[in-house]
Amino acid sequence: MFTILEPTIENIHICAKEILKSNLVVMPTETVYGLAGSALDLKAIEKIYKLKNRPLFNPLIAHFYNISHIKEYCHLESLALDLANIFMPGALSIILPKKANSKIHPICSGNTSKQAVRIPNNHNALQLIQYSNVPLVAPSANVSNKLSPICAKNVIQSFAEIKFGDNINILDGGDCDFAMESTVVEVIDDKVKILRYGSLSIEDIKQAGFDVILLENAPHNNVLSNINSPGLLKKHYSPNAKLRLNACDINPNEALLAFGEINFAIKKDTIVLNLSPRGDITEASKNLFPMLWELDLKKVSNIAVMPIPNFGLGLAINDRLSRASYEG
Ligand code: TXA
Ligand code: MG
Repeated sequence: MFTILEPTIENIHICAKEILKSNLVVMPTETVYGLAGSALDLKAIEKIYKLKNRPLFNPLIAHFYNISHIKEYCHLESLALDLANIFMPGALSIILPKKANSKIHPICSGNTSKQAVRIPNNHNALQLIQYSNVPLVAPSANVSNKLSPICAKNVIQSFAEIKFGDNINILDGGDCDFAMESTVVEVIDDKVKILRYGSLSIEDIKQAGFDVILLENAPHNNVLSNINSPGLLKKHYSPNAKLRLNACDINPNEALLAFGEINFAIKKDTIVLNLSPRGDITEASKNLFPMLWELDLKKVSNIAVMPIPNFGLGLAINDRLSRASYEG
């Protein structure tokens, strides 16, 4: 199953060899842990979809070690290149036109000509990509629609009930810096269209001088019908527990996921985790997945979540929460 490895140079070389033998490696990134395989290798890609139980229509982000590496496979020009120069390496994934001769397997882009690319800001991940010398597709290392993993232990927890024959090495890079996935964007008509809210805030993109088109579907309305980025699936990022959002009180069977000051009465034995007691949205974004993991581990069945302001990384938090709580 899984073997946890220290991210030494020697171990990263071992993992790179595994990649070139069509095997998978779990790699740390600054956002979440990724289940990585060669983007050029159908056998590896099939293993990723099978292990995650991921629908085949949901395309994958290819991870590169620098901008020239991206340019070998995709067209990276004008505004997209400006974005890349400013935010890569970092928590930004850009959808780019694939080069006609690109060897990235068509499945990775959902059989379209548009490939999502990212340069992770994590030394171990960059070394793994460089030593493998191929782009690595790496979805979050969790079973599809479940919580994203932000440490090696979460990866093992996520796949605990899944049986598979291969050994998969996990490069243990400790806790992820952001603990929230990358922001996914596409450049359309000289504007940056947001396809998934994530660790890079809209404000940061605007401040760098770009015009931004926000996700048309407000994070709370859950009426997405036209899937142009399947991270927008209605049900996603879910803990085992049931979530009740925008809670201003607490029911007897619920744990509380708080934000800021709690100004209602709570019984003494209620489990309470606070995303940010001082009401800091960036701190809350880093705590969201770790705290949901913790509540799942405590086998909590219901979670009341206090309202989170909808600005800055609050957009990403509310997006994850609304999908996690969706019941169809
Ligand atoms: O932070 C991250 O992005 C992490 C780390 C491991 O890099 N990866 C990640 O991958 O979150 P995944 O597969 O869990 O989410 C990728 C998102 C999905 O919402 C997918 O639908 C969208 O990116 N996506 C991928 N390729 C796309 C494409 N060609 N067009 C539109 N959306 C795409
Ligand atoms: Mg994911």
